[in-house]
Amino acid sequence: MQTAPTPTVTLTKELTAKIDQVLKSHKQDPTQLLGILLDVQDCIEQNYVPEAAAFYIAEKLPVKLSVIYDCLTFYSSLSDQPRAKYPIQLCNSIVCHVNDAASVAAAFQEILGIEIGETTYDGKFTLESVPCFGACDQAPAVRIKGKIYGHLNTREKIQQLIAQLI
Ligand code: FES
Repeated sequence: MQTAPTPTVTLTKELTAKIDQVLKSHKQDPTQLLGILLDVQDCIEQNYVPEAAAFYIAEKLPVKLSVIYDCLTFYSSLSDQPRAKYPIQLCNSIVCHVNDAASVAAAFQEILGIEIGETTYDGKFTLESVPCFGACDQAPAVRIKGKIYGHLNTREKIQQLIAQLI
């Protein structure tokens, strides 16, 4: 098993300024909570919303901390746990399944040398199994940092995708 160390992100002055900027860009609008959390997550190298950031957002918006955690745990594009620089989200829903998503998952696992749920030692890649993210017309597809990579029906395409991220 290969799992990278997961340093804890604390609320530095720099991170506070970035979160303030995100809140400002969303006009402190609590109905934009999902977009706010995605943007905050993008500011953090480990691709997650740390506890300190969640508490800070709850202080700044009229939103309960429990609602923030509901979002963090409900939406597969968000995480409250540190992840790799590139979390590779493998779709496990029906359309990708019938388009041989199992072979796509096997190829990623073999090339990266990790299982689903693990992170490479260099902290670059995590493999995650997630439900449909709406790219069924491009099945079999994966999502990486919000971007869709579809029609991954050959090992060569998967190798090229990984090579372009390294
Ligand atoms: S079933 Fe895979 S993206 Fe929809």
